[in-house]
Amino acid sequence: MSIIYKVLAQLEQAGPECVSGESVAREQGISRTAVWKAVRALKGLGYTVEAVTNRGYRLIDGPETFYSEGIRMGLDCGYRGLDIIVKQSVGSTNDEAKLLAVNGAAHGTLIAAEAQDRGRGRFARRFHSPPGTGLYMSIVLRPGIPSADAPLITVAAAVAVCRAVKRTTSLSPAIKWVNDVYLDGKKICGILTESTFDAESGGITSAVVGIGINISGRIDDFPGELRQTAGSLYPDGNARVTRNALAAAILNETLDLCGNLFHAGPLPDAAAARRELMREYRERSMLTGRDVTYTRGAESGAGRVLGVDDDARLIIRINENGETVALNSGEVSILL
Ligand code: BTN
Repeated sequence: MSIIYKVLAQLEQAGPECVSGESVAREQGISRTAVWKAVRALKGLGYTVEAVTNRGYRLIDGPETFYSEGIRMGLDCGYRGLDIIVKQSVGSTNDEAKLLAVNGAAHGTLIAAEAQDRGRGRFARRFHSPPGTGLYMSIVLRPGIPSADAPLITVAAAVAVCRAVKRTTSLSPAIKWVNDVYLDGKKICGILTESTFDAESGGITSAVVGIGINISGRIDDFPGELRQTAGSLYPDGNARVTRNALAAAILNETLDLCGNLFHAGPLPDAAAARRELMREYRERSMLTGRDVTYTRGAESGAGRVLGVDDDARLIIRINENGETVALNSGEVSILL
């Protein structure tokens, strides 16, 4: 990470306050001249930085830049030492994260990108990932849980996204089982979890949670086939949250939830954390009580959603025979 972005992060963190050149120099371990050069470079990049006599520098304005130190600045203290990588353009951040995981990346490592040209969703669908208007990120997790509990990872990520969106924007999205997040009836976020398993123990070696959020894409800018279903946090195109702040909030929430669920955490036991997670997931679920059609492999049907059980299965009462079905995978569409 170039020193310019470290200086930028420090100025952003100070908000409307001035930061003295001396304190920036001390914090970054550089000379006052190097600070001055970094400020000059930032001006060249379009930032307005005011120099106030005897008080230092103040950031007035500038472009919304997505960068690792900008994300780190929003992380809770215990997570500030994590590896955070932001790239310009990648095929898929999930593919990048899987490579990092194979090479030993630690729990909590984050890789994000400005844009993806092979962004993927479930069922190998393409995830539209243009630059500037969306957040595309993948988190490496080492949850240390049996493979049977793998669905909990996506559940935790969906709850984390909802909490983070609420915290950073005041908007209240809902979860569409199992891995989509909706706002005002439109999909604003998809989650793709990919895990590797240890053949002997049956445990999860690592999981990559990929999260894609449309922040400020205008509906007209989506490809035709997405216009009916896709939405944005800010469909007017005017983002009121930075990608840095949203990415940091999601990482904080995901790691807090995982800490409680999978490792020794503040709650007395993992079972209590799991009950609490499922309670929150159900509370945010938009399908309960809705009439839906569903597909699971070759099977399909129609019915009413009764809820989500403790194993994150969707419970549907089938119209045809009144029996209930518990889906642990598959896809559901809401009937209007
Ligand atoms: C879905 O809608 O089915 C899930 C979409 C997941 C998209 C995210 S964007 C970041 C990460 N990289 C990918 O290729 N996919 C996920």
